[in-house]
Amino acid sequence: MALRKIYHYPDPVLKQPAEKITVFDQELETLAKDMAETMYAAPGVGLAAPQVGVSKRLIVLDCSPREEGPGLVVAVNPEVVSGEGEACEEEGCLSVPGYYARVERHARVKVRYQDVTGGDHLVEAEGLWSICFQHEIDHLDGKLFIDYLSPLKRSLFKKKYQKILQQLEEQL
Ligand code: NI
Repeated sequence: MALRKIYHYPDPVLKQPAEKITVFDQELETLAKDMAETMYAAPGVGLAAPQVGVSKRLIVLDCSPREEGPGLVVAVNPEVVSGEGEACEEEGCLSVPGYYARVERHARVKVRYQDVTGGDHLVEAEGLWSICFQHEIDHLDGKLFIDYLSPLKRSLFKKKYQKILQQLEEQL
């Protein structure tokens, strides 16, 4: 296992729609393990493959430190099948360091995905798990939580984020 580099907005890999996974091999398993390790080390509750520079439809999540649940979920080709209710929680993203904003989401979702061996799963998620699934699946479509901001909040974000990026570069 190895930690992977996390790509930050505005890297183009984050805007690119990710490719469907059709090969379930050792390479996929290694990528999933590396992503989980990278997520826990960050620390974060979810990570999508484009965030480590790999434009493939794979996400890992584990909200269990903050909310009861199944522990680590590795989801290949995940899709939101249906959603209901409304939630509006503060979100952050490992690819948009230092910035948080409330985003409107479904309160509950049904998600279909495959595991690393290609087996099919259908799960129902609520609370933080539901938000995390929606946030991570958005990454696979090249969408970030800041894309939901109003034009005013978006321009404030851009000013603030330039400073955050400068500080990050100075730290390196
Ligand atoms: Ni994110």
